[in-house]
Amino acid sequence: MKSILKVSNFNARYGKADIIENLSLEIPEGQIVTVIGPNGAGKSTLVNGLMASMESPGYASGNIQFFDQDISRVPVEAIVRLGISLVPETRELFGSMTVLENLQLGAYVRRKRGEKNYFSELEKIYGLFPRLKERQGQRSSTLSGGERQMLAVGRALMAQPKLLILDEPSLGLAPRITQEIFHILGRLKELGMSTLLIEQNARAALKISDYGYVMELGRFTMSGPSDELANDPSVIETYLGFGKKKESKQ
Ligand SMILES: Nc1ncnc2c1ncn2[C@@H]1O[C@H](COP(=O)(O)OP(=O)(O)OP(=O)(O)O)[C@@H](O)[C@H]1O
Ligand SMILES: [Mg+2]
Repeated sequence: MKSILKVSNFNARYGKADIIENLSLEIPEGQIVTVIGPNGAGKSTLVNGLMASMESPGYASGNIQFFDQDISRVPVEAIVRLGISLVPETRELFGSMTVLENLQLGAYVRRKRGEKNYFSELEKIYGLFPRLKERQGQRSSTLSGGERQMLAVGRALMAQPKLLILDEPSLGLAPRITQEIFHILGRLKELGMSTLLIEQNARAALKISDYGYVMELGRFTMSGPSDELANDPSVIETYLGFGKKKESKQ
């Protein structure tokens, strides 16, 4: 199967602290790949490093291939234009702007690409998230946590990405809302989307994904098809064990 993203020899450090060393990751086209792992493992450092590119001599280095193109030195805006959208852990919405205005901002790269109908995704996104349509005139700072996450995902989709990267979309959300968001990720997959899903909610993430990596202290300690990982005794004990609050932030 063709890979949409292929990462090898990826390293990241903050100052003198090595966070990620010699990591490899591959996302087959049309699949959902998840990275699970505890607080501080380096999950956000990984996805932010993938996007931030190594064009400025910064904190990350490595080989990143998007389809057949080396994007390791491509600036972030150009990466978005090529078709990768990240929903960061911090969501980064513009609080004083309305839902609709935030969504319109997401289409910015398509306008830059010279596309005429760059708002064409809007109705599709409202179809996926009817609640956003109901609240399109509302300031995003007044949305609930779940609605904010929906808006962040919706805004990323406005760019019509080929690869969607989500950094802990379930963070701070009630299980029912998490389910709703994950259900939409499943529908996006049916529509052909490739997704890299960063999660601490291992149970939900392994259920929805095709392939998974377990990240601990900046390394992948395990990887495999998600159903195999979900049945692995050490994954069950550490990440799926019931009665333990591994899924929540400390
Ligand atoms: N800007 C920064 N400067 C220095 N150290 C940082 C910075 N950002 C993150 N770190 C450190 O890097 C390590 C990995 O952090 P990272 O945010 O990537 O973890 P994570 O797996 O995303 O955790 P979480 O699940 O809590 O979001 C942590 O030890 C963190 O303290
Ligand atoms: Mg993180």
